[in-house]
Amino acid sequence: MSRPSTSFTEPRHLPPLPRIVPGLVRVRKRRGVRRAIAWIAVAVALVESAGLLYPRARALALSLEETPAARGQRLATSLGCFSCHGPAGVGGTHNPGSEEGEVPAFGEQTQMMYVKGADDLREYILDGAPQRKREDPDYQAKVQAAALRMPAYRAFVSATQVEDLVAYLRATSGQVLPDAALAARGAAIAGELSCFSCHGPLGAGGVANPGSFKGYIPGFWDRDFDELVRDDGELREWIGKGALPRISNHPIGRIFFHRQAIKMPKYEDVRPQDDLDALVAYVRWIRAGSWRTLASADAHH
Ligand code: HEC
Ligand code: HEC
Repeated sequence: MSRPSTSFTEPRHLPPLPRIVPGLVRVRKRRGVRRAIAWIAVAVALVESAGLLYPRARALALSLEETPAARGQRLATSLGCFSCHGPAGVGGTHNPGSEEGEVPAFGEQTQMMYVKGADDLREYILDGAPQRKREDPDYQAKVQAAALRMPAYRAFVSATQVEDLVAYLRATSGQVLPDAALAARGAAIAGELSCFSCHGPLGAGGVANPGSFKGYIPGFWDRDFDELVRDDGELREWIGKGALPRISNHPIGRIFFHRQAIKMPKYEDVRPQDDLDALVAYVRWIRAGSWRTLASADAHH
């Protein structure tokens, strides 16, 4: 998410204003037109430099939203978790000698087979496995036979970092699901459409998006969402049309809307209305946050 520092020095390389302006004073004819052009050039230069300075202003003036799960996901990258658990934790890395033949995934409900709750996750991270497993001779033999072993990270992570990793692992588990039928169908559709590869695990946000207003793709958990989604009508419009006129027609909003590298897909052409309704119900359920207790403390499955 850090931007190259060159963007802050670039305004110095812009042509100094006098080089633009004298060009017009030499020509007397059509001075009005020339002057207009000069003003446009000045305006463009100002907008450009404002744009380049913007990341700094943005960092100072705006609160960048950071969820524990998004932090945990970045931490998992820096700790090398994905080298064994596969890109984005999808698993599939060969593990010769192991029972499963592969390192387990983090998502798609795989955790269900390994952990009983958040405490087990903590113990996997800190000690390589929960104590009850480490004390079991069968488990010990199993682990010893495998080429790849889950490392103990106790010496490398702080207590807060463990909680961030747990938040990430729970959010990406595929086990935090709504009870209501419509929202539950929305969860399945969100999986098919890979909403979370852009919006972060369970919509925790934090995926980088160069050129966008805040520099990352907004999530569904908190303030970013409330700024962008005022009601169900707007939520539906985002999902159906990939845009909201309130933002895309706004004098400043539209600069970022067009400039951002990654854009919200438009799903109304590829999915029936029913599916969009289900997605609305699901995203609403995520925003409401009643799953948070399920995702932290000790969720038993
Ligand atoms: C050297 C390879 C390796 C690395 C690196 C690694 N793991 Fe593991 N991990 C494993 C193996 C192998 C298992 C299966 C252990 C078992 O059978 O109990 C496992 C199991 C797990 C489990 C329980 C099963 C599941 O998929 O939910 C969790 C949770 C887990 N690891 C989290 C992490 C986290 C978080 C990191 C990074 C901080 C990490 N692992 C890094 C190899 C690795
Ligand atoms: C290719 C990446 C990508 C995918 C896939 C994606 N989105 Fe988005 N989404 C974005 C971007 C980028 C924005 C911000 C758009 C803007 O500001 O113009 C966004 C905005 C949104 C918003 C506005 C509010 C907010 O806080 O995010 C909602 C709601 C949303 N997306 C829902 C979904 C749902 C539901 C899915 C899956 C059906 C989905 N998105 C799939 C990239 C994506």
